[in-house]
Amino acid sequence: MGEHKKWTVAIDGPAGAGKSTVARKVAERLGLLYIDTGAMYRALTWKALRRGILPAAAATAGSGGAVPGLAWNTQALVKMARESSIRLAPGPQGVRVWVDGEECTEEIRSPQVSAWVSQVAAVPEVRRLLVRQQQAMARGGGVVMDGRDIGTVVLPHADRKFYLTATVEERARRRQADLAAQGHEVSRAEVEQWIRQRDQQDSQRQEGPLALAADAILVDSTGKTVEEVVDSIVRQCREEV
Ligand code: DC
Repeated sequence: MGEHKKWTVAIDGPAGAGKSTVARKVAERLGLLYIDTGAMYRALTWKALRRGILPAAAATAGSGGAVPGLAWNTQALVKMARESSIRLAPGPQGVRVWVDGEECTEEIRSPQVSAWVSQVAAVPEVRRLLVRQQQAMARGGGVVMDGRDIGTVVLPHADRKFYLTATVEERARRRQADLAAQGHEVSRAEVEQWIRQRDQQDSQRQEGPLALAADAILVDSTGKTVEEVVDSIVRQCREEV
């Protein structure tokens, strides 16, 4: 991939595969803008929780999976999503996020948001709305976008598509370390269970499920450092095809 063009790079994969760290660094190395689409689903989830559209779950709710027994109103969620404006901008520690002008960069990583986000992301109208915004953000090119459906739905004509994965055990180890760094102590077994649940929900939904695009390059990050993975992706971006 030559340096002159405004490239679009899609990076998909399951929770905890290291997509956001890798995508951010790949964007830096290639001089492109990093767009974290998961942050957009998280931002809407955060707002819906604050509005009481999604009921607050038990404090133990983890980084993924259903919140059993709590009813919520899909129509109210869709209406709220239509009326919301989400803004992303690069920050020193990753992407900064605002909803309706209010910053929620840290709040969108909370266990509460993580517990609900898969269900918000499974609502077809919410997906269509965000997919359209993501396509608009990528229109001029010059972006690295990460998510679950970027290579398959959002940017089917991306110049490069990667599918980043790792074993469940490794992803659980990483997610547990992230949560611990944010002051949330949870057991490895619990995190592993959330990850399995989230994988299942993200892969089985009707619209925009997590899936490997036919023309995506599979990258397994198990046992590799972030730098090794970034190097490999940057190298493959630069190769002519
Ligand atoms: O990558 P993440 O953990 O921040 O993603 C949060 C949730 O949003 C996750 O459950 C999958 C969903 N998601 C999605 O459905 N489509 C995307 N393009 C990005 C994220």
